[in-house]
Amino acid sequence: MSDTVLDLYQSHSYPAMSHPACDPATTAVAAKLAGLTVPPPSCARILEIGCSSGHNLLPLAQRWPDSQFIGIDFSPAAIQQARETARLAGIENIEFHEADLRNYDPGEDGFDFILAHGFYSWVPADIRQALVDFCARHLTAEGIATISYNTLPGWKQRQTVVDLVRQLAARPVAGTIGQDPAGILAYLATIPAGDSPDAVQLNSVLHDMFAKSADILAFDDFGPVNHPVTFTGFISHTHAAGLRYLGESELHANFPLSLPPGAAEALAPLAGDPLMLQQTIDVLTNRTFRSSLLCRADAPVDTRLTTATALHFAVRGLHTFERTPQGGRLVDHEGKEQGQFEHPLAVAFFSALAATSPEAVPMQEILERVAAIPAAQFDPTVSLPPIARLVMDAARQKLIELRIEPVRFDGSIPRTPKFDTLRQLAVQRQQALVDIYHAPCTVPDSRRTVVRAMDGTRTVEELAALAHVDHPRLDVRAWLAHLAARGLFVK
Ligand SMILES: C[S@@+](CC[C@H](N)C(=O)[O-])C[C@H]1O[C@@H](n2cnc3c(N)ncnc32)[C@H](O)[C@@H]1O
Repeated sequence: MSDTVLDLYQSHSYPAMSHPACDPATTAVAAKLAGLTVPPPSCARILEIGCSSGHNLLPLAQRWPDSQFIGIDFSPAAIQQARETARLAGIENIEFHEADLRNYDPGEDGFDFILAHGFYSWVPADIRQALVDFCARHLTAEGIATISYNTLPGWKQRQTVVDLVRQLAARPVAGTIGQDPAGILAYLATIPAGDSPDAVQLNSVLHDMFAKSADILAFDDFGPVNHPVTFTGFISHTHAAGLRYLGESELHANFPLSLPPGAAEALAPLAGDPLMLQQTIDVLTNRTFRSSLLCRADAPVDTRLTTATALHFAVRGLHTFERTPQGGRLVDHEGKEQGQFEHPLAVAFFSALAATSPEAVPMQEILERVAAIPAAQFDPTVSLPPIARLVMDAARQKLIELRIEPVRFDGSIPRTPKFDTLRQLAVQRQQALVDIYHAPCTVPDSRRTVVRAMDGTRTVEELAALAHVDHPRLDVRAWLAHLAARGLFVK
């Protein structure tokens, strides 16, 4: 079985992607709020298992030059490309090893962060075992591992679609409806669905799968191994290896946004049993995926949460803030309202945050700005606990993001836009760019020519003229402003 996995990764290159869910700048916050103070990622040892061509790890190594990074993967082609990219981009604090996890020996020093994204559910049982044993053995006392996996019961429904597609692909009729999974899914998506809740649900699974590119499907849903597990099954497995569950690597994923208002209250009786609370949530939301944080069973976890802890981080707003007669509201990039606020402190908090966008700034700076707004009636002796509660609620609802350190950059459009070498290499290889917050930014094929031209030699006007050839209706300035606000340009 393992050979089938290796054969796939040898013969096809895995679509490179960065994964914000395992970014140590945010997982360190999730760990801290779960009671574990992880060493700062700016001065840490960080390992990625199954790092593929290094697309996820290299931007992190570039961000934290004083940390030591290691990526391992058993695909020689992936490791060769990772090393080549590191060399061309001049990133020196990273090593890539071509190694099978089952016999990889990293030596005595432990790791403060172990990242294993897209690994656990996609490898056979002996490698899953090797992964959890490795984490238990090689995490430092305060270290954390981020492990993602497909979850049941949600994945059962996806499995039904995968099985159907595989059966169809094996029949002569495949010739008329499509040869490969992506083609067959495209055909299935054209069939009008029934309107019963089950049919609607199944159809949304089908469309969600169809929306993934053929490249990703071959490794993911239709990969040679796909082993979804229940949350409690995953916890039993990792617990037996000597690991402790801290929570989800993204704060908001502990209580999925798909749960309707009122669900939190109804689930309150389960608060005393956090593991069963999570398992119940998985069943209620038909959850398909998790990215969980684990530490050693003997790690110094202290679950008492104080106001100071909640106000300890850097923060960035994730939506636009608009003033209203009642106070203010948050609106996402599609214009959909995400929250309304009337309390003067909340209104002041979000307007202070809006003034610092798109940077992530220390909470102290936001508090100083709030204190300077007379309408906030900020009083240092009583206002901090309600602000801390607001911050925690907003982070859990994904209205703001908490980060372990500030992110400072000039988010305006440069006169002659230019990407750094790492991003220029991604452009040349037709891969997604990785933004300053570690999120992937995919460039549509029709914009590749103009993106390639962003090498610092052309003005915004020249880029607009170039874009006009393939894309006459594109608002180039708005697009460049979007890229600049994601911190994609070097100044
Ligand atoms: C689904 S890919 C995920 C890649 C990347 N982490 C991501 O999420 O985008 C799984 C990766 O694990 C690697 N892999 C699988 N089994 C391995 C093993 N036993 N030892 C080392 N690497 C392995 C594969 O070569 C592949 O690059």
